[in-house]
Amino acid sequence: MFIFEDKLSSISRAVGKGSVSDDIKLAIQNKVLTGKTGSKIMFTSKMYEKNYFFVGVGKKDDLTTQIYEKCLTSALKEIRTYKLSNICIDLSNIKIKSYNLLRGSIVEIEKAQYSYREKKKSYLRDCAFKLLRDIDTKELNNIISESLAISNGVNKARMLGDIPSNICNPTFLAKEAKKLEKINKNIKVEILSENQMRSLKMGSLLSVSQGSKQPAKLVIIKYTPIKNKQPIVLVGKGITFDTGGISLKPSANMDEMKYDMSGAGSVVGTMQACAEMNLKNNVIGILACAENMPGSQATRPGDVVTSMSGITIEILNTDAEGRLVLCDALTFCKKYKPKYILDMATLTGACLVGLGKYPSGLFSNSEELVGKIKCSADATGDRVWQLPLYKDYFDELKTNFADIQNIGGRYGGAITAAAFLANFTKDEKWAHLDIAGTAWESGQDKGSTGRPVKLLTDFVMTNK
Ligand code: BES
Ligand code: MN
Ligand code: ZN
Repeated sequence: MFIFEDKLSSISRAVGKGSVSDDIKLAIQNKVLTGKTGSKIMFTSKMYEKNYFFVGVGKKDDLTTQIYEKCLTSALKEIRTYKLSNICIDLSNIKIKSYNLLRGSIVEIEKAQYSYREKKKSYLRDCAFKLLRDIDTKELNNIISESLAISNGVNKARMLGDIPSNICNPTFLAKEAKKLEKINKNIKVEILSENQMRSLKMGSLLSVSQGSKQPAKLVIIKYTPIKNKQPIVLVGKGITFDTGGISLKPSANMDEMKYDMSGAGSVVGTMQACAEMNLKNNVIGILACAENMPGSQATRPGDVVTSMSGITIEILNTDAEGRLVLCDALTFCKKYKPKYILDMATLTGACLVGLGKYPSGLFSNSEELVGKIKCSADATGDRVWQLPLYKDYFDELKTNFADIQNIGGRYGGAITAAAFLANFTKDEKWAHLDIAGTAWESGQDKGSTGRPVKLLTDFVMTNK
C-alpha cells in the first residue's frame, strides 16, 4: 500500500488490529517508516502469513502521476526479487486529478515485466486491487483488457526500439508491422518498395536511403473496423540507424541512434493496442523507414530534391533526415482524408536540450487538436509541452536554390524542424510530437521507454 508522509496515522486503521500493527506503530515512532517519496519497507505477519509492503509517496497534496508511477515501478522491481506469486495493491487512498488510476497501474505492472534479454516472465500470477469505489464486473473486465492491450503495445514499441540496427532495419520493421494482420481481421498492412515510392515521386524520402544498402520502406497499417469514417492518421519516423549521412555525427553515444525509429515503433505499438482491444475507431499508421548512411551514393549537402508534394528542398545538412522522410509520408497520407494527423519523431537534439527528458515537444496548426492531446497526456501521465510555430521560424527555411532548405538557423532547432513539416500539412489538422528526449533512457537504465504509446492509445480511444 502507498503511504503519505503527512498521513502516517491512517496506516494502522487500514491494516487493522493484528500481529503487525504494533510493529508499524513502533516503526513510525522511530522514524523508520516515513512515507517519504521512494521509501519502501516490508512487514511480515506470522499470524496471517501476509507481507505488508509500504511504499512512500511523499505529501498527499504533492502527489503527481509521475511520482506515483515511479514509486509503483520501483516497488514492483523490489517485489520481483521476492518472487511472490500473489499481490494485492491498495489503491483506495490514491487520487490524482485527470489520471486514469486503475488503467495506469495495470499498465505499469505489465511494463515492469518487460526485459529485453530475459524471455522468462515474472513470478507474479495474480494481482488484486483494493479500490475506493465499487465497479461492476463488465466495466472492470473492460479496463483490464484495455490495459493489457495498451501495455502490450508499449512493450512492443520498447522491444522494437531496443533491437539493434543490424537486425532492425527498414525491411525488419515492415515485417514486424505485417505480423499485426494476425491479431485482428480489420488490420491490413501494405509495404511500398523504393520503386513504388519512386513512382509516387517521393524524392525527399528516397534521398535519405540512397546512401544505404538497406532499401527504404513505406509501411501503411490500416485498422478500419468502421465504414465511412475519417481515420486518425499516425505517422512515425522510422530511421533504423542515423549516422548523420555525409554530415556525419560525432562518435560519442552514436549507438543511441538505433532508437531513431522510435516514432515508427510507437505507431506499431499503438496499432497493436487498437487491434488487441478491438477499438471502435478508424486508425491508419504510416511508418517512414530508412537507414541514414554515408557512402558514394549518399546525398551531398547542397543537393536539391523534389518531394512528393512538388515542394523542392535544398538539403544543407544530411543529418536533418527525419523531416525529409516525414514530409513525403505526410503528403502521402492525405489520400486517406484524415480527421487528424499526428506524427511522432525523434527529430531534434534541440528538443532534448530545450525541454529535457520529461515532456515530448508538441507542435500543431490546430489548438483544438492541442487540447485533445493535452487531455490524453493528463489521463496517462505521458507528458507533452507545446512550443510555438510563429511565421518567423518559417522564414528561416528560405533559400535561393529551392522552395525551402532542410535546416533553420542556429537557435530553436526543434521549432524550425516542426515548421519544415508544417509546410506539408497546411490543409489538415496536424500535430507533431518531438520525442527525442522521451523515447529512450540513457545511462544505466538505457533502453526504450515506449513513449508516447500511452498518449496515442488514449487519444485514439477518446476521439471516436
Ligand atoms: N535523430 C536526430 C535527433 C536526435 C539527436 C535525437 C540526438 C536524439 C538525440 C536527428 O536526425 C538529427 O540528427 N537532428 C539534427 C538536426 C540538425 C542537423 C539541424 C540535430 O538535432 O542535431
Ligand atoms: Mn539525423
Ligand atoms: Zn535522425
